[in-house]
Amino acid sequence: MKKNIILYKTIPVDQFERLQQHFNVTAFDNITPENADTFRQALAGADGIIGASYPITANDLTLAPNLKAASTISVGIDQFDIDAMNARKIALMHTPNVLTETTADTIFTLVLCSARRIIEMAEMVKNGQWTKSIGESDYGSNVNGKTIGILGMGRIGYAVAKRAHAGFGMSVLYYNNHQHLDAENLLNARRCDLDTLLAESDFVCVVLPLLPSTEKLIGKNELAKMKSSAFLINGSRGKIIDETALIDALENQVIRGAGLDVFEVEPLPADSKLLKLPNVVALPHIGSATHETRYAMVKCAVDNLIAALNGDLSQNCVNPEVIK
Ligand code: DGY
Repeated sequence: MKKNIILYKTIPVDQFERLQQHFNVTAFDNITPENADTFRQALAGADGIIGASYPITANDLTLAPNLKAASTISVGIDQFDIDAMNARKIALMHTPNVLTETTADTIFTLVLCSARRIIEMAEMVKNGQWTKSIGESDYGSNVNGKTIGILGMGRIGYAVAKRAHAGFGMSVLYYNNHQHLDAENLLNARRCDLDTLLAESDFVCVVLPLLPSTEKLIGKNELAKMKSSAFLINGSRGKIIDETALIDALENQVIRGAGLDVFEVEPLPADSKLLKLPNVVALPHIGSATHETRYAMVKCAVDNLIAALNGDLSQNCVNPEVIK
């Protein structure tokens, strides 16, 4: 007999059909305040769930007595209460690898756009304000040859480091729990403590997962340790930076600028002070958002759920110990 699953995100038709071949699918485009109750009711009969961008709380899990596996269409797993999942022996799968290079492209785009003031300059041209040749007040800062400090030398951090080293001749510093031998041997990266990285980097790139230990890791004190000419780049999760402290640092020239793909609250509220600051490049969480990569993520998540509900947690399960 087919197992029951809930899909809570719109996915390409061919991948939806694959789910239907294997499971009875209850599908939601996404979860909104209007359909949240219906979603919670559906949890009562679900063996598996697959989706993204919606927090699955410990309370939701209590409504799902049969749930065995959750497959998130993301690499980040911060939408899930892992302790509650472990206690209930529910497996959680995610989609690493397929989005690494695309997300690194986005992060490096933020480096370039921030330093070279690309968005500001492009808007000036589009607004018809390019009326004379540009002067010093429009100049940006070099990227080539500078120092990039990467917080989190995982897959994406390493992909950013490759771009910096091979493409832009940058020196690479990194802050990470573990030594990364390839980064050191192949990219000449140097592992250091957080204070050293903050003090020596021209670009501080946050590529860490959001965990209790990384929440608000970058606050007023850390920003004060950065060079006044440096840029802060965040391509992981907004809550790793204290946004109020960041706004204050940007307004008071404690740092030169910021390139942000992620925010404490998403979508970023229209009245956020960040939107008023010319030295901020703000993107709508597009790290992995290309047709090719988003398709690959969906396919990976579908593969993961089919495998997991057939008892195979060998791929992309973040808590395989739940079945031991
Ligand atoms: C991820 O995969 O975690 C991206 O940030 C999209 O949410």
